[in-house]
This record gives sequence, structure tokens and C-alpha cells, in this order.
Amino acid sequence: MSKQSSTGAREKLAAMFRTARVIPVLTIERLEDAVPLARALVAGGVRVLEVTLRTRVAIEAAKAIMADVPEAIVGIGTILNADDLARAAALGVEFGISPGATPDLLQAAAASPLPFAPGIATASELMQALAHGFDLVKFFPAEPCGGIKALRALAGPFPDARFCPTGGIGEANAAAWLSEPNVVAVGGSWLCPAADIRSGNWAGISAICARTMQSLKPQV
Ligand code: 3PG
Repeated sequence: MSKQSSTGAREKLAAMFRTARVIPVLTIERLEDAVPLARALVAGGVRVLEVTLRTRVAIEAAKAIMADVPEAIVGIGTILNADDLARAAALGVEFGISPGATPDLLQAAAASPLPFAPGIATASELMQALAHGFDLVKFFPAEPCGGIKALRALAGPFPDARFCPTGGIGEANAAAWLSEPNVVAVGGSWLCPAADIRSGNWAGISAICARTMQSLKPQV
């Protein structure tokens, strides 16, 4: 079995996520929204962005942000298979992230230099991820899967695992999740509501980001 052999990739991912603390999950329907959206997030203090492969324009949107918003650190999310991973790596993004993992995807990611966080929801899935060398995983969907209680239970048998929970996280509970010692960052769509993107309410998106960042305890 191949393992993500590069400690560099793993540590780079952990450092990026730890510094970010919150990572918006972006679903960009119109290419022209990509750059103003990224600028709004950055203006609110949120720089590490997950552009999901959920829309037709996702790849072009990621390219546009990388070209025009140099302060943004762009990753690709909703990577579902080895082809998606290859597309993300070819773009030159900083990281990849997936909602779950298949054996094929874990193999491909382990062989790729792209820093990657596979999605897990159970102990068995976490064991698969760890066996491939991924010790920072996305815990998804975090709230429906038992929330902080479930995460604490996983910390017992897996003391080396680090998590980026997403799914059901928002302004009200981001700080609580981030207080857990094994949580490096939290992700979610609350930072960029679809209605605000549709209406071009960039100031509103910056305000949500700034409020969320302010609600977090200062980093130690
Ligand atoms: C994800 O892909 O991480 C989720 O769609 C984010 O979940 P949320 O919309 O509940 O934040």
C-alpha cells in the first residue's frame, strides 16, 4: 500500500489549516462571482479557500482566483476520484480535500505530492486514511455524525489524528469546535451564503467572516 510519503505535504497542510482556522466551502455557480467573492473573504480575514468541484465553472473559478487574488490560498474540494485529484494537482492549487474516500482515491492521493485531507465519518474510515499516511482528515458531516462528542470519542483510539470538521458548522459553534485539541480548522458554507453570492452582497460576506474570526479565541 502506498502512503503519502512526503512529510512536507502533510506538514504544509497542517500549517495552512492551523493558520486559517476557518475554511469556507465555496460553491461558485457563475464564473464572474469568483474573484469578488474571494476578495470579500480575504477582506474579512479568511484567506484559505476551498473551491468545490460542484459546479461547471469550478476549475475556471479556481484559476481566476489564483490569478487575481494573490492573498488567497486556494484548494480544491469535493474531490471524488483520482481524475478530480489529477485535475486539482494540474491546476497548481495548494491542497485538495474530499467528503469521503474510496480505496482508489486514497491510493492516488498517497502517490500525489498535493497536500490532501480525505473525508472520514467513522473509525474504520479513519483507519483507512491513517494507513495511507493521512493524519489530518476532514470529519464530515460533523454535526449530523455526532458533533463534538463523536470527535472526542475518536480521539481516544486515534491520538495522532487531526481533524477539520465540516457540515453543520457556523458562527454559533465554530469556536467550540476549534477549542478541541485535535481540531486544526473548521470548514463550511456559512461564511459565504448562496443568497449573498447570488445578490453580490460582498460586504455582507466580509462581515460574516470578520464576525466569525472575532468570535474565536486568540491563537496560542
Ligand atoms: C462540505 O462540503 O464541507 C459541506 O457541504 C459544508 O457543510 P455546510 O454547508 O453545512 O457548512
